[in-house]
Amino acid sequence: GKYRVISTKSMPGTRWINLLIEQDCRLEICTEKKTILSVEDIIALIGDKCDGVIGQLTEDWGETLFAALSKAGGKAFSNMAVGYNNVDVNAANKYGVAVGNTPGVLTETTAELAASLSLAAARRIVEADGFMRAGLYDGWLPHLFVGNLLKGQTVGVIGAGRIGSAYARMMVEGFKMNLIYFDLYQSTRLEKFVTAYGQFLKANGEQPVTWKRASSMSEVLQEADVISLHPVLDKTTYHLINKESLATMKKEAILINCSRGPVVDEVALVEHLKQNPMFRVGLDVFEDEPYMKPGLGEMKNAIVVPHIASASKWTREGMATLAALNVLGKIKGYPVWHDPNRVDPFLNENAPPPA
Ligand code: GLV
Ligand code: GLV
Repeated sequence: GKYRVISTKSMPGTRWINLLIEQDCRLEICTEKKTILSVEDIIALIGDKCDGVIGQLTEDWGETLFAALSKAGGKAFSNMAVGYNNVDVNAANKYGVAVGNTPGVLTETTAELAASLSLAAARRIVEADGFMRAGLYDGWLPHLFVGNLLKGQTVGVIGAGRIGSAYARMMVEGFKMNLIYFDLYQSTRLEKFVTAYGQFLKANGEQPVTWKRASSMSEVLQEADVISLHPVLDKTTYHLINKESLATMKKEAILINCSRGPVVDEVALVEHLKQNPMFRVGLDVFEDEPYMKPGLGEMKNAIVVPHIASASKWTREGMATLAALNVLGKIKGYPVWHDPNRVDPFLNENAPPPA
C-alpha cells in the first residue's frame, strides 16, 4: 500500500477494511486494549508518515493531533460518529486536514433507541424488570407500576435534524402523540407528515394528531410530556437542561438524551429526579463519560445505557464504511468527498447546503 491509514479502533464489518486495502492503502488498526486513547497514544500511532486517520468520538482531536497528523503528511481525518464536538474543525482547517463524519447511516438506529428509552421510561420497564428479578412480585395489583399513556400526549423534540425528525415521526405515527418541536430551521417535511397523519386519523374517526413549531426551546420544555434532545452540542446547547429549565417542565415529564451528555447539567438533573419521583429520564450519554454524576445510578426514575444509540450491526458497519470512504476520498481525490459525509455546521436537512 502506498498510503498509510490508521484506525484508532477495530470497527465492525470488513467492507471498510477491503475498501482501503483495495485502494492502495496500508491499513493499521490499533490493538491497544485500553478503551480511550490519549493524545500521546495517538501521536505515537501517527508516527512520521500517516496519510489519514479514522478516529473515535472518545478522542480529543484538537490542535496537537492535527499538527502531528499534518507533520506526518496527513490530509484526512474521519470521526466514526455523526457528532464531532470532539473535533476542533478550525484546527484541522489550519493544518490542512479535511474532516469527515458519518451522518445518515445512524439516523433510524439512534431514533429507535430514543423511542425505546421513551417507552421504557413511560412504562417503567427497567424498574419493573428489577422488581420481578428480585422476587418481589407477589400478585397483580391495581397500582403496580402504573406509568404514562403516550397516546394523546405531546412529544417534544429539540433539534429536528435527521435524528430528531426520525424520532418525531416514530412517536407521532407509532403512538399517536402530538408534536411540538424547536429547531432554527423549519422542518416542513415533518410538519407535512404530521398533518397528513392527522387527516388520516380524522378520516378514520379518531382524534387527529397536531404539530407546533415552538419559538423557543423553553416552550418545548414547558409544554411537552416526553422531551427528546437532539441538538448539536455547542455553546448554545451546553447545559440547556439545568436547574432553572427543569423547574419549568411538567412534574411527570419524561426526558430523553441520546445527543451529548453536556447538554444536560447532570448534577441538577440528579437533584430534580430526587425531588420529583414522577419525573423520569432515559439517558444514553453522560456529562463525563464514562462516569455518571453521584447518585444518578441509584435513581429508580432514571434509565441509563452506555452510549449505544447507534449500536446496530448495520449502522456500525455503515459508519465504518463511511469513515473509510471519507479518508479514502480525500487521499485519492475521489468525488465521494462531498456534502453528506463532510463535516459541516448544518446538520439539519432543511438547512441550506454548505458553501
Ligand atoms: C455517536 O454518538 C455519534 O455521534 O455518532
Ligand atoms: C444528525 O445526524 C442529525 O441531523 O440529527
